[in-house]
Amino acid sequence: MKATRADNPADPVISLRAVTAELGARPVLRGIDLTVHRGEVVALLGANGSGKSTAVRTVIGQVPVTGGEIELFGTPRRRFRDWARVGYVPQRTTAAGGVPATVTEVVSSGRLSRARFGVLRKADREAVHRALEHVGMADRAKDSVNALSGGQHQRVLIARALASDPELLIMDEPMAGVDLASQEVLATTLREQVAAGASVLLVLHELGPLEPLIDRAVVLRDGCVVHDGPPPAAVGQHALPGHDHVHPHTADVGPVRTGLLS
Ligand SMILES: Nc1ncnc2c1ncn2[C@@H]1O[C@H](COP(=O)(O)OP(=O)(O)OP(=O)(O)O)[C@@H](O)[C@H]1O
Ligand SMILES: [Mg+2]
Repeated sequence: MKATRADNPADPVISLRAVTAELGARPVLRGIDLTVHRGEVVALLGANGSGKSTAVRTVIGQVPVTGGEIELFGTPRRRFRDWARVGYVPQRTTAAGGVPATVTEVVSSGRLSRARFGVLRKADREAVHRALEHVGMADRAKDSVNALSGGQHQRVLIARALASDPELLIMDEPMAGVDLASQEVLATTLREQVAAGASVLLVLHELGPLEPLIDRAVVLRDGCVVHDGPPPAAVGQHALPGHDHVHPHTADVGPVRTGLLS
């Protein structure tokens, strides 16, 4: 276990109880319970628009909750400050922004929380390099992220999350847009993280190459938990309860960017 604090090892790393959230005055989470214990790999599944991203974004404080309780490592989220212990890969971010950063800069930003006085030392630079090697992007270290494909960009975001050697990884569809060969690489990386004691919350549409790693699946439907237990067999997005073959997001309210990382 990488934990250095005196937290109670029996405390879950993530605990949501009866959490409700609204976006654009619409209830999006309608009282969800979600627990990730230490060393556990939990998949969060559900149809498009069921609230998966919203749920993980409440955990990292990007979406305000209207009710319920959230704890990280046994600490109420409002009082939690130790973000170096958490690695987060957002869903479909755009690199967009004025200054084109290099791959190394983006991944290094994931290390700043560990760096003293914001200065990266040798150990930090090595951690950045290791993270890039893990995702097979070390040879692109000096390139601008604008010169990357969608899948390569996603791999860089995963490297950024790994760079701080987090105890808890939260990944929102990390496999989206990543080809099969890279998915295998990421599955191996994740396996190593878990073997080293990391806990993982993964938003997924399909278990795919990650399936052997998943301890438990929580399925959302319409902002409610409809399953919490062993991963449902043959989980493709079409096998999930509530999959309705539509891809909302585009028409209605239009998500507001809170912009923590994008
Ligand atoms: N900023 C926002 N303002 C208003 N409604 C939003 C906002 N963000 C998301 N929603 C709505 O909240 C609901 C849940 O969205 P969320 O992104 O959590 O779903 P998801 O399960 O992650 O879906 P997907 O599989 O498409 O990523 C959707 O109906 C969506 O339209
Ligand atoms: Mg989502």
